[in-house]
Amino acid sequence: MTLTAITLRRRRAVSKTLQLAIGALGAACVGLMSLGMPGTARAANAPPAPFKADLAKGQAISATCQACHTADGSRGAPANPILQGQHPEYLAKQLAEFKAGKRKNAIMQGFAATLSEDDMKHVAAFYASKKAPQGFAQNKATVALGEQIWRGGIVAKGVPACSGCHSPNGAGMPAQYPRLAGQHADYTALQLANFASGVRANNAQMTTIAGKMSEAEMKAVSDYAAGLR
Ligand code: HEC
Ligand code: HEC
Repeated sequence: MTLTAITLRRRRAVSKTLQLAIGALGAACVGLMSLGMPGTARAANAPPAPFKADLAKGQAISATCQACHTADGSRGAPANPILQGQHPEYLAKQLAEFKAGKRKNAIMQGFAATLSEDDMKHVAAFYASKKAPQGFAQNKATVALGEQIWRGGIVAKGVPACSGCHSPNGAGMPAQYPRLAGQHADYTALQLANFASGVRANNAQMTTIAGKMSEAEMKAVSDYAAGLR
């Protein structure tokens, strides 16, 4: 065996011991951290620098989206959701879940597939930076029922009040609960139907809630939410 081969072997042995020691230390740190702060174990894996959304990048990406979502995410065709004023974390979550196929929609799965995780955050921040437009309830006959469901739920069916999570004025609560105020009623009603049928399976709470509602109830509360501001 040559001298260099021996040195190499030694070096390997040393670095292996080092690696083991570092590994053990790391594990101990993770253990300690999770003891002190439950749920923060992931933070021990050297977190990347905090993400900074770039609105200009987001706007550039949105060029691909404007045919359906308009240039700034405002009121387009009723089938395409208004993105303006929606919470950025919620928008980014939806894009990631379209890409992963957790939320099924042929069109959006295609568009989301072209975006990186950072692109999703940039474009979400761009739409979120805009002010949400006002909407109006269209159907006078169902406004009372819609309001009742929004504020008080459907007690007999165990449906909770929408306002409890989506807030009394429909603005939602960042980062988890999306804004529903001013959204196209057709889109909102379709999402409720999709939660109920399992086409949209990215939130267990909404699957349970929508599963207990009739089509008439979905439409009434969706129309009511469209007029919230
Ligand atoms: C061809 C039309 C079309 C294009 C282009 C398009 N979208 Fe969509 N988008 C839709 C439709 C339709 C839905 C509703 C899907 C559903 O019913 O689940 C949607 C839903 C979404 C949602 C979910 C909103 C919510 O409230 O849950 C986000 C976020 C979104 N689109 C972002 C984008 C972005 C970003 C782009 C561009 C990269 C884009 N869309 C391009 C049609 C389009
Ligand atoms: C326990 C909390 C909770 C209650 C109560 C609740 N929601 Fe939700 N809802 C959520 C969460 C969380 C989401 C976001 C799901 C996701 O991340 O995809 C959501 C999403 C939605 C969406 C999809 C929005 C979009 O832009 O695609 C609609 C529509 C909706 N809820 C309607 C309702 C209605 C109508 C009611 C009342 C009958 C209601 N929700 C009650 C928690 C709740």
